[in-house]
Amino acid sequence: MSILKNIQKRKTFAIISHPDAGKTTLTEKLLLYSGAIQIAGAVKSNKIRKTAASDFLEIEKQRGISVATSVLSFDYKDAIINLLDTPGHKDFAEDTYRTLTAVDSVTLVIDSVKGVEEQTEKLMQVCRMRNTPVIVFINKLDREGKEPIELLDELEQKLNIHVRPLSWPMGMGLSFRGVYNIYKNSFAFFHSNKQQVEEEVRVFNSIDDPELHEMFGDAAEKLKHDVDLVKGVYGEFNIEKYRHGTQAPVFFGSALNNFGVKELLDTFIEIAPSPVPRETTKGFVNPDNKNFSGFVFKIHANIDPKHRDRIAFLRVCSGKFERNKFYHHVRLKRSLKFSSPATFMGKTKSIVDDAYAGDVIGLYDSSTFKIGDTLTEGEEFMFKGVPSFSPEIFRELRNTDPFKSKQLEKGINHLTDEGLAQLFTQNQGNRKVIGVVGELQFDVIKFRLLHEFGASCEFISYLSYKACWVKYENENEIESLKSLWSNNLFLDKNKNLVYIAESPYTLQRAKEKNPKAQFLFSIEHNDHTLEMDKVA
Ligand code: G4P
Repeated sequence: MSILKNIQKRKTFAIISHPDAGKTTLTEKLLLYSGAIQIAGAVKSNKIRKTAASDFLEIEKQRGISVATSVLSFDYKDAIINLLDTPGHKDFAEDTYRTLTAVDSVTLVIDSVKGVEEQTEKLMQVCRMRNTPVIVFINKLDREGKEPIELLDELEQKLNIHVRPLSWPMGMGLSFRGVYNIYKNSFAFFHSNKQQVEEEVRVFNSIDDPELHEMFGDAAEKLKHDVDLVKGVYGEFNIEKYRHGTQAPVFFGSALNNFGVKELLDTFIEIAPSPVPRETTKGFVNPDNKNFSGFVFKIHANIDPKHRDRIAFLRVCSGKFERNKFYHHVRLKRSLKFSSPATFMGKTKSIVDDAYAGDVIGLYDSSTFKIGDTLTEGEEFMFKGVPSFSPEIFRELRNTDPFKSKQLEKGINHLTDEGLAQLFTQNQGNRKVIGVVGELQFDVIKFRLLHEFGASCEFISYLSYKACWVKYENENEIESLKSLWSNNLFLDKNKNLVYIAESPYTLQRAKEKNPKAQFLFSIEHNDHTLEMDKVA
């Protein structure tokens, strides 16, 4: 098969949701349909119910190095689907944001009882930064939830996206009868059943079909009224708008009961984009470009101290990756080859000889990779669009064992390369500040520093509101920042200047005093390369 055909078959996506909306359940049901697993209950939830590092680490241990559920690849009909897993715990949201840079589309799961929740809003903001196409699955229709119209309004208002229902539910909770497919004029009958895979579907002539009315009476009247309303209010579904991330098709169902999942999957393989061109520091790279290229979006450590190796997850963006062939590590300017690249089918990991654009491969790594690193066949470009966001919580790092300062430095560098946290070093001083999204990360860092590097530390509270990356054309634009706030100026790991503001008020003042500088809440991992390009 030609490279192009191989690439077009691939659909690489992630499922996102607020915890408990049904992401794990839906993932499992998708695997059930594809035949990748045979029974429900086979996919282990990666949720951490209690927020304690020991729970997190225990789960990590149980899952080995967690790679088995990091990428799930399976075939469905003619498509090869790569489903990228995202952490269930909100304290690890940054990992999810990065994973979203490696997909071509997402499926968003909403709990019909709870509607659009906080974590969903954040995740969608990240999707919108890249115009990622979104399909919405409104889940748990077997429970008494919010009215469908109300849910659609909430989606439009809170997520700032136009929606277009492709199916419509008849009833909900105890009176839930099934879902009407607006395009195919078919009705899928709801039966509560966790193991059943087949759905009972009947095709009608139209929403006015008398048989539909004979079957459901008043409920059919209400359905007709709703469907007419939907057609009038939401306009036609437009695949181009979906692919540009401005219109989101919506499905209704119940993942737990395998209901609406087949419809979702069938539509997904029909409309979801195959790998799309990706932006680099030297312009766009097409997936069917004959030269291989890809970037690292996630690094997973083996927490077993006897095996310090890590796995770098690389998204293939163009061409074909081959085992044992030399590739160019752009940042390090080194040639590297990989003898055992791994892919993932269902829940098993296996060594692959080749991989195509759209695939994700795991590369065994001993500290050669950082998040955002690019591999090519010799070309000097880096992939863009892998951002770092301002952390939410900051603490000063203090060494508690003076004889182990080397170990601490090595450990903290190692862990921040993995993207577990962000490290900021004071511009004029030695202070080291660690920034994270959730408290749990501090416990994990402490535990791993001790167990993997023999270093011990403490985290001291540090008055802070947000980290802003400061961009400027020349030094005099940040003169007052340097004189008034020198203690708050730090460098990130790529030597970008960062201002850690103590409060919204001080941030506002700093902006007013340095009007020409830009204060950014996020930065591209490869922005320093851009800067270097500019100078050259
Ligand atoms: P998550 O990965 O998004 O965090 O959610 P997950 O799939 O783990 O689902 C969260 C809870 O919602 C689970 O119940 C799951 O069984 C339930 N659930 C998922 N889909 C549906 C649905 O269509 N209808 C109903 N009624 N419930 C659904 P749990 O009690 O927290 O866990 P478990 O003991 O069932 O595993």
